[in-house]
Amino acid sequence: MNPTRRPLIAGNWKMHRTVSESVALARAVADTRPVGPRTDIVVAPVFTALTAVAKALEGTRVGLAAQNVYFEDQGAFTGEISAPMLKDAGCAWSLVGHSERRQLFGETDGTVQKKLFALKKHGLAPIACVGETLAEREAGITYDVLRRQLDAMTAGLEMEESIALLTGLVIAYEPVWAIGTGRTAKSSDAQSAHAFLRDRVRDRFGEVADTMRILYGGSVKADNAAELLAQPDVDGVLVGGASLDPAGFARIIQAAG
Ligand code: 13P
Repeated sequence: MNPTRRPLIAGNWKMHRTVSESVALARAVADTRPVGPRTDIVVAPVFTALTAVAKALEGTRVGLAAQNVYFEDQGAFTGEISAPMLKDAGCAWSLVGHSERRQLFGETDGTVQKKLFALKKHGLAPIACVGETLAEREAGITYDVLRRQLDAMTAGLEMEESIALLTGLVIAYEPVWAIGTGRTAKSSDAQSAHAFLRDRVRDRFGEVADTMRILYGGSVKADNAAELLAQPDVDGVLVGGASLDPAGFARIIQAAG
């Protein structure tokens, strides 16, 4: 971590938990003590639990995220949910471009960009995920993939528009081979990837890179969070499985300070 950036600990609950279970989990996260004064906490329940969890989190310091968003505001898009609807449900955040969306649901770099535009338009903060697959890593093209996914977010934009998009944007580096596998990236590999992403943004767009938070995700647990968070370009973590256990998630939050 770097003292100029606030740590952000996010829990992605994926397709887990009923409404009442989600409310109970959210309450447990909100009850975590102590929490570092600068640590931001976000949880991302399933869509059906958003409204109830929003209510449970009122007046706490835990923010609410959606796991996905559609880029149109409304219309004949069966099964989709828009940014204004997420806002209406109490979300301040949304994940975008998670590797499971990219791999299983056809999310592309192009749709990720449209979703970022939609979230920004409605004042929601995006957590945009990038990361290479095992095959890409073994082929030695990790950084090409990261560059492509990152550059696609600002493709076709002017300098000022790009900086506006990147301001407040959170990037999550989630190597696909580390997600749900118990194989965490070495903290030095995570640091290298995060530094690569930040340098790329700095080279193209300047100092916005220094305020941009970059989270690591992929088999983060209470036992490895502190070492990851000790890296200078790791500004937080995006936690899947371990965020469903409030005691373990509390330890991860506390590892941030
Ligand atoms: P795990 O922590 O279960 O590996 O999941 C990571 C992830 O995909 C968070 O978005």
